[in-house]
Amino acid sequence: MKLTVIGCGYLGATHAAAMAELGHQVLGLDIDPDKVTALSQGRALFYEPNLDPLLAKHTATGRLRFTASYPEAAAFADLHFIGVGTPQKPGEMAYDLTHLFAAVRQLAPRLRGPAVIVGKSTVPVGTAPQVIDILREFAPAGDQVEVCWNPEFLRESHAVEDTLHPDRIVMGFTSENTRAEKVLRQAYGKIIEAGTPTIVTDLATAELVKSAANAFLATKISFINAMAEVCETAGADVQLLAEALGHDIRIGRRGLRPGLGFGGGCLPKDIRGFMARAGELGVDQALTFLREVDAINNRRRERMVDLAFEQCDGVIKGKRITVWGAAFKPDTDDIRDSPALAVAQALHQRGATVTVFDPKAMDNARKAHPQLEYADHPAAAAQNTDLLLHLTEWPEFTSIDPGSLAARVAAPRVIDGRNTLDPVRWRAAGWTYRALGRP
Ligand code: UDX
Repeated sequence: MKLTVIGCGYLGATHAAAMAELGHQVLGLDIDPDKVTALSQGRALFYEPNLDPLLAKHTATGRLRFTASYPEAAAFADLHFIGVGTPQKPGEMAYDLTHLFAAVRQLAPRLRGPAVIVGKSTVPVGTAPQVIDILREFAPAGDQVEVCWNPEFLRESHAVEDTLHPDRIVMGFTSENTRAEKVLRQAYGKIIEAGTPTIVTDLATAELVKSAANAFLATKISFINAMAEVCETAGADVQLLAEALGHDIRIGRRGLRPGLGFGGGCLPKDIRGFMARAGELGVDQALTFLREVDAINNRRRERMVDLAFEQCDGVIKGKRITVWGAAFKPDTDDIRDSPALAVAQALHQRGATVTVFDPKAMDNARKAHPQLEYADHPAAAAQNTDLLLHLTEWPEFTSIDPGSLAARVAAPRVIDGRNTLDPVRWRAAGWTYRALGRP
C-alpha cells in the first residue's frame, strides 16, 4: 500500500519505518526541515534503539521517503496517518492541539478524492469529531474523506519492537465509515495475521483507551511509590514488598518498580490532560485520584532532595554532588520531564555543584541545563564528590565496581533512586547506601 505518516517525531518516525518494514510504500512528512534531512539520510535526530538501522534499510531502497510538502503528501497516497505531537499547554493541564489541527488544515484542501485519515496522536476524548469538522469544511472530497482513530501504545526505548509487535491494535470508527476499517486492516495485515488482538470501537472509546491506559500505568507506579513512603517510616523494604505483591497475577510485577517515579513526554502530561478533559466534561470527580497520582510522583523528587540533605549533614551549599542519569528512563536520550534532571536542578538551586553523566542524553541535558556541570564518564562525574545520586537506571551504572569508585570520591555516600544498585556490594565496598523506600 501507499501511505503517509504526518509528523515524524518519536511516534511518527517509528511508525513510518515500521510500515515500510511491513512492505508498504511510505512518505513521512514533517514541517521541520532538519528532521526531514536527517530522516532522509536514514537517521533520527533522537536516540531510539534499532530505529536508525530500520530507517537506513528502507530509505536505501526508496520504500521510505520524507518530505516537508503537504501537496506531495496529499498526491502520494489516500491513506494518511497523523502522529504529530500533542504536548501540554504551557501553564495549563490541558493538551495543546495546535499541531494536530494545523496538520489537518494543511492536508484537507488537498484531498480531492476518497481518502482515509488515521489519527494516532494521543488526544483528549472528543477530538476526532473536531478533526472531521475541519475536513468537512476544507476538503473538496467532502464526506469521501473518512476519519478513524488508532491510538499508539509504544514505549520509548522499545518503540520499534512495540510498533512491529504490538500487544493489541485498537481501531475506532464512525458509523459513516465504509472503507476505513478495510483499509486499516489491510495496512496492519501482517500484524493482525500474527494473531494480535484487534479491538474495534467507536471513535470516543478509541481515544479514551490511550488516556485510560496511561492513567492506569501512572497509577500503578504511584501506588508502589506511595507504599515506599509508608515503608520509609515503618522501617519496611518496598523492594521486597513490590516483589511479594507482583506474584499475585492480578497485580503483576511489571510497572511496579518503586523509585524516583515517572517522567517523559507521555505519562505526566497524559494524566494532566485527562483530568483537564474530565473537568470540561463535568466528570472531574471521576479522576481526582489522578491529582494524587501526580502529587505522589512529585513527592518522590522532593524526598530525593531531602535525602541528599540528610546525607550531607543538612548542608548542601558548596557540596559536590554527582548525578548519574539525565534521561527520563534508560535507553533513550529523551529528557522531557526527567526526574533525574529535576532533582539535579533542585540541588543546583540550593547551592550544590552538580555534575551529571548520562550515556546518551548529555547533549539534550546540556542544552536544557547549561548551569549544571557535565563529565564524560560515570567515574569522572564522581571524582571528589560528596554524594552520588543514581537517578536513571542505565545498565552502565549497575556494572560499575563500587570498590574502585570509592577511592575517587570525597565521601563514599550513594542514594539509589532506582533500586538497581546492589546494596550488599556497595556497603561491602565501604559506601553509605540509601534508597527510597528501603531501610
Ligand atoms: C508510556 C507508556 O508505557 C506507553 O504505553 C505510552 O504509549 C507512552 O507512555 P514511556 O513514556 O515511553 O511510555 O515510558 P514507560 O516505560 O512507561 O516509563 C515511564 C516512566 O515511568 C519512566 O520515567 C520510568 O522510569 C517510570 N517507571 C516505569 C517507574 O518508575 N516504574 C515502573 O515500574 C515503570
